[in-house]
Amino acid sequence: MDQIQLDFLGDLRRTHTCGALRASGEGQAVVLMGWVHRRRDHGGVIFVDLRDRYGITQVVFHEDVDAAVHKRAEEVRPEYVIAVAGNVALRGPAAVNPNLATGEIEVVASKIWILNESRTPPFPMEEQVDVAEDVRLKYRYVDLRRPHMQRNVVLRSRIAFAVREFLHSQGFLEIETPFMTRSTPEGARDYLVPSRVQPGSFYALPQSPQIFKQLLMIGGYEKYFQIVRCFRDEDLRADRQPEFTQIDLEMSFPQQERIFEVIEPLIERICAEAGFEVRAPFPRLTYAEAMRSYGSDKPDCRVPPMHPVEDLAPDLANAGMPLVAIHLPGTGAPSRKERDDLKAFGQERGLRVYDDAKRLDRDYPAQMAEIRRRAGASENDLLILATWAGEPTGHRPEETVYQACGQLRLYCAHKFNDRHKLLDPQCFRFLWVVDFPMFEWDDEEQRWNAAHHPFTSVHDQDLDKLTADPARCRAKSYDLVLNGTELGSGSIRIHRRDVQAKVFAALGFSDEEARRRFGFLLEALEYGAPPHGGIALGLDRIVMILAGESSIRDVIPFPKTARGTDLMCDAPSPVPERQLKELGISIRASKK
Ligand code: AMO
Repeated sequence: MDQIQLDFLGDLRRTHTCGALRASGEGQAVVLMGWVHRRRDHGGVIFVDLRDRYGITQVVFHEDVDAAVHKRAEEVRPEYVIAVAGNVALRGPAAVNPNLATGEIEVVASKIWILNESRTPPFPMEEQVDVAEDVRLKYRYVDLRRPHMQRNVVLRSRIAFAVREFLHSQGFLEIETPFMTRSTPEGARDYLVPSRVQPGSFYALPQSPQIFKQLLMIGGYEKYFQIVRCFRDEDLRADRQPEFTQIDLEMSFPQQERIFEVIEPLIERICAEAGFEVRAPFPRLTYAEAMRSYGSDKPDCRVPPMHPVEDLAPDLANAGMPLVAIHLPGTGAPSRKERDDLKAFGQERGLRVYDDAKRLDRDYPAQMAEIRRRAGASENDLLILATWAGEPTGHRPEETVYQACGQLRLYCAHKFNDRHKLLDPQCFRFLWVVDFPMFEWDDEEQRWNAAHHPFTSVHDQDLDKLTADPARCRAKSYDLVLNGTELGSGSIRIHRRDVQAKVFAALGFSDEEARRRFGFLLEALEYGAPPHGGIALGLDRIVMILAGESSIRDVIPFPKTARGTDLMCDAPSPVPERQLKELGISIRASKK
């Protein structure tokens, strides 16, 4: 890059942002500062689109007004940072740009300061850029300038502010909890921080503030909230990051209903901030109903539910297993190839798939008429039946079947979306899923794990199932779901030491292990713990969906790749031997 003479800002003050000026400002003397978005050189006239996060203003340099200023403007290139002084002028009718908020005016420049130059950016500052995400992440500070990213980051800030405003108005206190702490119970791997003063000992970064918020209830601070970073070392996906942000809250003396009464208007408020009207109350489904109707604990309710129909056509069901009708309206009859694809998809997941509805209509006319009636399926819709192909598996075998059918349902929904158009990203179908199972079976470890976390209350009617029938023991836990994504999760907690001990026992924790991991919480339960409960919503996921994005990375200013790498600052990275030594750590050679 050839060095050019740069100017100093001195005490020059900006009068307006690049999104502020309108026709009413005609004749005004102004000073603008920003990035050169585009420069067009028409010989004696140079146009510069000057950009900042508020918008774009056209600045014009006339050679015959001031030749020296015009000459200086010749030097600017995209992404140079400049200041201009000039006067606001109306554009001629033919030059008005209706797509720009400032499109009726331009600034006729009388001075220019080049405050900094820029290397040619690695990609243009357009709405959508056709460039590998790795490049965007490496030059994230450039990527963040694109209007698209700016809208997302601004939306995130506005939503965070709306959350604070709303929760403060409801009497919630914003209280911070530690980042350097002990292992928390969310079930992922911890990120560890070694202690220098106690070599061989480690802090764990919190997977959530779960234990601290319970301790705050015991400490008497009912109605706590925090917009808080959480850290989890787990496999990453489009909607998962190793560090992410929760809107975390906890209340004393609540029933589930009371938590919903706070969250539903909060969600209405958040959606309004993004320009969408959403109306509470949200529908509720028990976990069992969600599994039966959608084969998922986070149903996408934009697509019609499935229907168990083994009672109508027992001949088609594998003995004792569900037979499920999957129906999509308005698809027309699928082609042979499409049927083969969806059949193969189902078979890979253990299903026997009846993909030929016409043939079923012919062979089982009476039963199919009933099935079509139950599913509300016309002849022109996609209708497939599926049952389990092999032996029942799992502790809740019907669920295994529903889950596979649910996957097939979503596969079809996506495959035929260009015909039925049900997966509209601006259609928001919130719902609560309640009454989750207390436990899930861990095949690897051959033991029951807490489905939510081990501080979750058991349903009053199911206390005796804790050990007698753990597979069917329900928890007082609930998820907020939107269009197939889990947005939030919470529960009414155990506040009694005796009940907590029973749950630990059911989870196979020895007294000693429970004391070692959560001893301070157990002790706290002995000092007047009030009934309490709460929820945490994933802020990143909420912003992702409201911004119409399909990756959480697009709403996080500095995200990590699927391998947990920050490509911009190249983290994680090795550290000098001296630093390891101070921490009493030595690195074992990898086996590879
Ligand atoms: P849970 O573990 O279900 O519950 O998390 C709550 C919500 O946090 C979001 N979330 C994530 N977002 C992005 N990346 C991740 N890796 C990630 N993991 C979770 C999801 C999820 O619904 N302490 C309990 C809450 C409680 O009981 O109050 C908890 O953390 O949107």
